[in-house]
Amino acid sequence: MDDLSLHVLDIIENAVTAGATNVEVRITDDERQNLFMIEIADNGRGMDKETLKKAIDPFYTTKTVRKVGLGLSMLAQAAKEAGGKFGVQSQPGRGTKIHAHFLHDHIDRKPLGDMAETIAAFIAGNGEKVDLTYHHRKGDQEFFFCTTEIKKVLEEITICHPEVISFIKREIRDGLKSISKRSKI
Ligand SMILES: Nc1ncnc2c1ncn2[C@@H]1O[C@H](COP(=O)(O)OP(=O)(O)OP(=O)(O)O)[C@@H](O)[C@H]1O
Ligand SMILES: [Mg+2]
Repeated sequence: MDDLSLHVLDIIENAVTAGATNVEVRITDDERQNLFMIEIADNGRGMDKETLKKAIDPFYTTKTVRKVGLGLSMLAQAAKEAGGKFGVQSQPGRGTKIHAHFLHDHIDRKPLGDMAETIAAFIAGNGEKVDLTYHHRKGDQEFFFCTTEIKKVLEEITICHPEVISFIKREIRDGLKSISKRSKI
């Protein structure tokens, strides 16, 4: 996987598999502190200590179709390669929080990639049953997006409608561009 956004997609899909109805994605892009950070929280079924320990092992999965689970271990690996840290906190019945830190200027830090595409693809597939919030800080500027606000104005139309998905993609793309331009640090 070349882009961190694809890792994000993988992790938020884990949340859906775990029965989450709420997913929160937070990205911090702070060159001044030489920090790039991805945090993802969900309210899914969570993991007990033993599952959690195994979860970051590349050979562990609760999926029955394939014996190797890669999502978490690949993000952990990507963070390690970029001088960073990776951690998972989880409580059965409450949810899971994942964080991955990277050194911003590390030569092996993968680019973020297209978050607008990632979030839009996730909503197209899961938007009816899962709500998502997305915070993105670039330097001193922040962008915020949430599906509950979109749903309020949509009324009868599904959030998965192709035109709504195109709108969401544009919204996020423009929002990210604008914070990038305005940030003074
Ligand atoms: N958000 C989560 N909530 C509850 N359990 C989780 C969560 N994320 C991961 N897990 C547990 O950790 C295991 C490993 O996750 P991982 O993403 O690494 O692999 P996978 O989802 O099983 O397979 P893959 O992502 O390669 O398709 C999962 O099978 C699941 O049991
Ligand atoms: Mg997975």
